[in-house]
Amino acid sequence: MAAFTEIRPHAVVVPFPAQGHINPHLKLAKLLHARGFHITFVNTEYNHRRLTLSRGPDWATSGLDGFRFETIPDGLPPPSDENNTQDIPALCASTRATCLAPFRDLMARLSRAADVPPVTCIVSDGAMCFTVDEDFGVPVLLFFTHSACGCWSYFHFGELVRRGYTPLKDESFLTNGYLDTPIDWIVGLENIRFRDLPSFVRTTDPDDVMLSIMARRAAHDAPQAAGIILNTFDDLEGPVLYGIRSKFPNLYSVGPVSSIATTAFTSISGNLWKEDTECIKWLDDQADGSVLYVNFGSITVVTAEQLLEFAWGLVRSGYPFLWVVRPDMVRGEAAVLPEEFAAEVEGRGLLVGWCNQEEVLSHPATAVFLSHCGWNSTLESISEGVPMICWPFFAEQQTNCRYLCTKWGMGTEIGSNARRGEVEGCIREVMTGDKGREMRKRALEWKERARKAIGPGGSSSVNLERLVEELTRRQ
Ligand code: UDX
Repeated sequence: MAAFTEIRPHAVVVPFPAQGHINPHLKLAKLLHARGFHITFVNTEYNHRRLTLSRGPDWATSGLDGFRFETIPDGLPPPSDENNTQDIPALCASTRATCLAPFRDLMARLSRAADVPPVTCIVSDGAMCFTVDEDFGVPVLLFFTHSACGCWSYFHFGELVRRGYTPLKDESFLTNGYLDTPIDWIVGLENIRFRDLPSFVRTTDPDDVMLSIMARRAAHDAPQAAGIILNTFDDLEGPVLYGIRSKFPNLYSVGPVSSIATTAFTSISGNLWKEDTECIKWLDDQADGSVLYVNFGSITVVTAEQLLEFAWGLVRSGYPFLWVVRPDMVRGEAAVLPEEFAAEVEGRGLLVGWCNQEEVLSHPATAVFLSHCGWNSTLESISEGVPMICWPFFAEQQTNCRYLCTKWGMGTEIGSNARRGEVEGCIREVMTGDKGREMRKRALEWKERARKAIGPGGSSSVNLERLVEELTRRQ
């Protein structure tokens, strides 16, 4: 056995198989690799095939010393179109029910392998918590890829059920003012109404899959982990982190991992869709601070009608825009816009299927981000000082939106059923109005504070070093 295999710590990294989870895990894995870890990164078979489609056949093998990919099945039948986002509740239920056995086999294989060091720790997505259901003889740290405010909300799902807030008695509770009920008893969560909690609480089904999976987190999953990792920073979410630490003291807030990881292994990317590169050239031709960037992430699906309202709102605002419309973004049909729209946007707007978002957000031409407020998108916008128009879709995006708009001051919300007039008005206000100016100022302040957190001596840098110590201590 080579000498390095005896001394190198070996982390098995297990993301939940969705884009917004793969990205931060990959970045954290690169950071650990840069600190001397051997990495085994575990994708699902389905996503491994998709990565091969989008990145080419050699993506997982070329030039990756000490960084390997393995696969396990996700337990779902193969979908008809390999370019589609899988159904998230179904994926949550199937990974929970079926992944432990193939993961156990993988761990056994790794322990017999002569060409990798012995596994010394597991960094598992909090959503892949079958990893804490069995003793693998090494510490398991759970990485929750949400904001702290989102994560802490999930940790209270059991309590929300016990106190009778959810499930809702019937559908009328969605419209009778109940959603505005203040939730003021969760330590560290500020200025939150029931409607700002992760969307899964707005169910009338007592057997709702997401409600029960999330209710297990604080009661069962997190207490079994050796520690918790969060992709956020103390200055941004201090009071919430204080609340989480009061229950789970071994907490590492190491974000934004997006910014600190960019120098290591740029060739490894976890993009499940093929990336358009022309859009960066297009941005190069636009004036600084002139472009509205629109992207609703990897899971959001809209109706054909909503797509049209956004389309005409964008056109009517009169600003140049870059809009990412995933091929699977419209519910039940192909995402196609009418010909007259194409004629209107000619030369002024660009539509692509997938982009390098961090590159777009850091481009000087990008002024404002119209987003679904997924946590990665939010952190990436904070890291680049780009103000946001918030159109939260599901999960803890509602909570992120609330914090962006009321606490961090760099977001403004647009109604979930916004028509073209509201879209147009909101864009104008943020691009050139007083509110937009104030949001831009706050966004730039947050950018600075994020840089400090990951800079020398910053809270996230210190926590990352603590994490590395924790993961190597028990070799
Ligand atoms: C989100 C949340 O992250 C997750 O926590 C929640 O439970 C479900 O919804 P997603 O829609 O993937 O997931 O959004 P986001 O968290 O913003 O992650 C998307 C990632 O894909 C970002 O890192 C973004 O940079 C990247 N991306 C997205 C691209 O690189 N290009 C694109 O065109 C779109």
